[in-house]
Amino acid sequence: MREAVIGFYNVSKSYPLYGHIRGIKNFLFDFPRSITSMKQERFDALRNISFEIYEGENFGIIGNNGAGKSTTLGLIAGVLKPNSGRVMVNRRVSPLLALGAGFHPELTGRENVELNGVLLGLTRKEIRSKMEEIIEFSELGDFVNRPVRVYSSGMMARLGFSVVAHLDPEILLIDEVLGVGDIRFQKKCLDKMMTFKDSGVTMVLVTHSVASVMNICDRAMWIADRQVQMIGDPQQVVEAYCEKSNVAINTSAVNKAAL
Ligand SMILES: Nc1ncnc2c1ncn2[C@@H]1O[C@H](COP(=O)(O)OP(=O)(O)OP(=O)(O)O)[C@@H](O)[C@H]1O
Ligand SMILES: [Mg+2]
Repeated sequence: MREAVIGFYNVSKSYPLYGHIRGIKNFLFDFPRSITSMKQERFDALRNISFEIYEGENFGIIGNNGAGKSTTLGLIAGVLKPNSGRVMVNRRVSPLLALGAGFHPELTGRENVELNGVLLGLTRKEIRSKMEEIIEFSELGDFVNRPVRVYSSGMMARLGFSVVAHLDPEILLIDEVLGVGDIRFQKKCLDKMMTFKDSGVTMVLVTHSVASVMNICDRAMWIADRQVQMIGDPQQVVEAYCEKSNVAINTSAVNKAAL
């Protein structure tokens, strides 16, 4: 029996729906009530969803824009709290790897690595010992000494993946960043992810690349209409998602070497 390291049990997540202000006079003269009523309107991103992810699994999450994929990762990372239900995570989770997340635009790449390390509770000595390895993996060259705000999306993804990959995560959460790296870096990330897999790291990958889901993941989950539509074999889940989206795809022709 495999051990579940992540579990969602009847989890719902809603966000305040900041609509337009009805009547500026009301808003000004009854400010507290206006704010309260604005906050009371909420938008359900996920409704009552349940699933488990097992130790050492590569688990892919797919679905349309706005389906709730990043929300799901945010709940696993603990940066979001569910409105109801229970989220169980019983391994050390890496910081959520999303484009630019956790980076300060005015600091250089190197300073951002230090900042991330400190925030994650590493000592300066530990950070220094990993610094060169992180910078080398990122292949950013002189750019590590420039502020992150001048980075291209791919450079940001390189730095993000390099930092997260060197923190010895037990659970790695990746939100749609690998696609912006060039093919050589994607291959490098893929190789690294495979070594993680061999050492038992659990990975949750959110991506719009159905080829990656089929080639990397052991299982996939499709989210739509605030619900889990399907969980299971990546190829079958991708096929169901594509069919629903009216996109014809020959999944058996998706070449593993094409990654
Ligand atoms: N901070 C927020 N405040 C209000 N609504 C939000 C917030 N974050 C997300 N939402 C809403 O929740 C829903 C789910 O968003 P989420 O970012 O999880 O989607 P996603 O599946 O990651 O989409 P994408 O593929 O575009 O990244 C969307 O309708 C979005 O508008
Ligand atoms: Mg998203």
